[in-house]
Amino acid sequence: MGFTILGTGSALPKRRVSNDELSEFLDTSDEWIFTRTGIKSRHVCTTESLDDLAVAASEQALQTSGVDASQLDLIVCSTTTGDHLVPAEACAVAERLGATCPAFDVSAACAGFVFALDVAEGYIARGRARRVLIVAAEQMTRALDWTDRATCVLFGDGAGAAVIEAGGENPLAVELSTSPDAETLRVPGLAGSSPYKTAQDRESVLSMNGRRVFKFGVNAICDMVHKLASDASIAVEDIDHFVFHQANERILSQAVKRLGVPDDCVVRTLRETGNISSACIPFALDRLARTNALNAGDTIALVGFGAGLDVGGYLLRWK
Ligand SMILES: CC(C)(COP(=O)(O)OP(=O)(O)OC[C@H]1O[C@@H](n2cnc3c(N)ncnc32)[C@H](O)[C@@H]1OP(=O)(O)O)[C@@H](O)C(=O)NCCC(=O)NCCS
Repeated sequence: MGFTILGTGSALPKRRVSNDELSEFLDTSDEWIFTRTGIKSRHVCTTESLDDLAVAASEQALQTSGVDASQLDLIVCSTTTGDHLVPAEACAVAERLGATCPAFDVSAACAGFVFALDVAEGYIARGRARRVLIVAAEQMTRALDWTDRATCVLFGDGAGAAVIEAGGENPLAVELSTSPDAETLRVPGLAGSSPYKTAQDRESVLSMNGRRVFKFGVNAICDMVHKLASDASIAVEDIDHFVFHQANERILSQAVKRLGVPDDCVVRTLRETGNISSACIPFALDRLARTNALNAGDTIALVGFGAGLDVGGYLLRWK
């Protein structure tokens, strides 16, 4: 049994931080950041918690879908930067929405929303759920080394959500893959204070080989789009919209060039938000929906990639 996307939602923290503001305490500039990444600003949590963002995006998605929280059969949250390791972020969302369905998290870094969608689809296919809320929420600013100009300028905070319902022709195609590599992009976990631990834990901040991720990202997008099109027996040119992970404008423009698709079919939100990890895709999808750019029957390719190294792709038809 397939599914339909009923509606989407998104949320950003209020505080917007421009590149110029970063250059007040980092050896960087708006010129460097914008030309190398396409990012002009990012939104950062100040008084907001991640729970607040996740709930705001979820409420909007429920409202757009005309679904009440009590009608949900499952909540899946994608995050790697939750307010708490336990309970799952999805449980906090369920509590604040007043939902009583099962709720748990999926961790697949920047590809997390696509992996969470696949989990949700599985519940629907097995007849275990009819309506599912999938929310991706990330507070990347808590995982950054704010003295490292090579990483902290790239990320921001935000959330995006979608409600899906059993019935419909989705997915037209789906592909998930992992090229195991624990070093290229990494955030170490809790250090803890076990008296038995002898090895030194690394500080819990993000480290990354930017050039390796860049190359991986361009290849991941192009390979995935070709696979999705081939699995669905359509041509790449027949895909109406591309919602790719928003890591770097240069990754997007190289992918556009290689795929030979029209530039304006590729959604861009990173100029305003930076990389909000797994929230990028549902955030961009919501933007697309809210600007009335989506028509019934349109095909949309979602491609997420990131730490893992994980890649997830979905080819969908809009309701
Ligand atoms: C991070 C990234 C923007 C760096 O761009 P780049 O063109 O590869 O730049 P380099 O890392 O080669 O650095 C070039 C120079 O700029 C400097 N630099 C790095 N960050 C800087 C900043 N914010 N401001 C000014 N200079 C900076 C470097 O120190 C280096 O200086 P040097 O030549 O004196 O050593 C780019 O590699 C990238 O976007 N990669 C993908 C990252 C990503 O998407 N991660 C998340 C995936 S989910």
